[in-house]
Amino acid sequence: MDENKRGSFGSTIGFLLSAIGSAVGLGNIWGFPYKMGRCGGFTFLIVYLALAAFVGFAIMLSELAIGRSTGFGPVNAYKKVSKKFKWIGWLAIIAPFLIMTFYSVLGGYCIYYMVINVVGMFSGMPDSSSFGALLTNPWASIGCMVLFMAICYLINRGGVGGGIEKFNTIGMPALFVMLVIVIIRAWTLPNADVGLKYMFVPGWAVANGVIEKAPSIFEVISTAGGQMFFSLSIAMGIMVTYGSYMKQRDSLTSSAIRVAGFDIGVSFLAGLMIVPAAFVALGSPEAVTENSGPGLMFIVLPQMFASFGDFAPVIGVLFFLLVIFAALTSAISLMETCVSIMHDGAKCSRKKATVITFVIIGVAAVFVNLGYNGLSFIEPLGAGTSLLDFFDFVSNTIMMPIVAFLTCIFVGWCIKPKIIEEEIMASSKFRWRAAWRIMIKYIAPILIAIVFISFLAQFLGFMTI
Ligand code: TRP
Repeated sequence: MDENKRGSFGSTIGFLLSAIGSAVGLGNIWGFPYKMGRCGGFTFLIVYLALAAFVGFAIMLSELAIGRSTGFGPVNAYKKVSKKFKWIGWLAIIAPFLIMTFYSVLGGYCIYYMVINVVGMFSGMPDSSSFGALLTNPWASIGCMVLFMAICYLINRGGVGGGIEKFNTIGMPALFVMLVIVIIRAWTLPNADVGLKYMFVPGWAVANGVIEKAPSIFEVISTAGGQMFFSLSIAMGIMVTYGSYMKQRDSLTSSAIRVAGFDIGVSFLAGLMIVPAAFVALGSPEAVTENSGPGLMFIVLPQMFASFGDFAPVIGVLFFLLVIFAALTSAISLMETCVSIMHDGAKCSRKKATVITFVIIGVAAVFVNLGYNGLSFIEPLGAGTSLLDFFDFVSNTIMMPIVAFLTCIFVGWCIKPKIIEEEIMASSKFRWRAAWRIMIKYIAPILIAIVFISFLAQFLGFMTI
């Protein structure tokens, strides 16, 4: 695999920002709050944090180390470490294709919202009905999706260095500031405390009738696990690729702490923003439960922004602009993986591989778009679900736990942790080496198995536990 053609990062900070840019995206701002909303608030939060600390972090560190020690992307990296395990690299790359088909649709929605906020400066602001209007208008949603893909294409064609690095330097901190501003506003609205209690007081939601009965523990564990893999951009070879760009002197441990810490922080902030805002904007707990699906962010935020009065359109435009950038920096990391696979697999030129990949994903994304209108009769996961839910589900809940599990077994038992430990210690002290070893050998695989079994239990209908 020709790594150089993918571009390389100019500096340590360039690598860090790009890895953070990949991790922080729609998964944090769009996915985390609605999944937390759907899965009982506090319980979800705790399970999520525990999984991120015990599983996510250990895997991220391993992936970065595999990437750096081999200097390759996933397929060749696994092959170099052990020929027998080349197939893990291949398995790891199915997910980015699946994810990109719905990620581009969501990116398109963000573009649409930015546009209607700009229009709102002159005439009516968007409100909660705007989302329904978007879903029933395939032209608008497909048009925006194509625009999102086109921007991605232009950036990918130019390589990952340069513009992306520079953009991340400004965009990520700006997103942070913006989230804090909106959170402060959300919290100062009457009724916001209900959302905060939902997030932080165990058992509160059920005791107060916000949700009828607690979600099944299986659902909570499998959703939190999938969300954790997705949000940290692990179990799909991306961090292996980024690790391959790292310099020998960069500390792997502190890089992994920063990337994971930043990512978890942004998810947490997004939750603090959207969950209370949902209770304010939607009024009744029933309305919150009803809307606690993928549309939550798009339904709640416009109403939230309206409370900024004259500043509403400005806040709306700025906010969605930052979300679009966060989505783009993640999408290019996904596309980069897809393109390089195509490049290696189809043995065609990089340019041709880029075009083919974009066309395949673009066509699939049209179907995902149509899943909300022309093809809405397809309900793959039961009544009321869409193709988007389906792709989200298959990639997060099935593919990623499998790859994550195999990664742990591979690192912990096949190549033995020592190789990774040596790679980590080549650049920094590794004080919790023993803890990491126990995590990657025992704790992480067991927890991932629990995540996967939870999914199966939920799937097979043992929903009541
Ligand atoms: N982590 C990103 C998000 O939260 C999505 C993403 C980007 C991703 N690159 C990835 C997910 C690679 C899995 C694998 O939005």
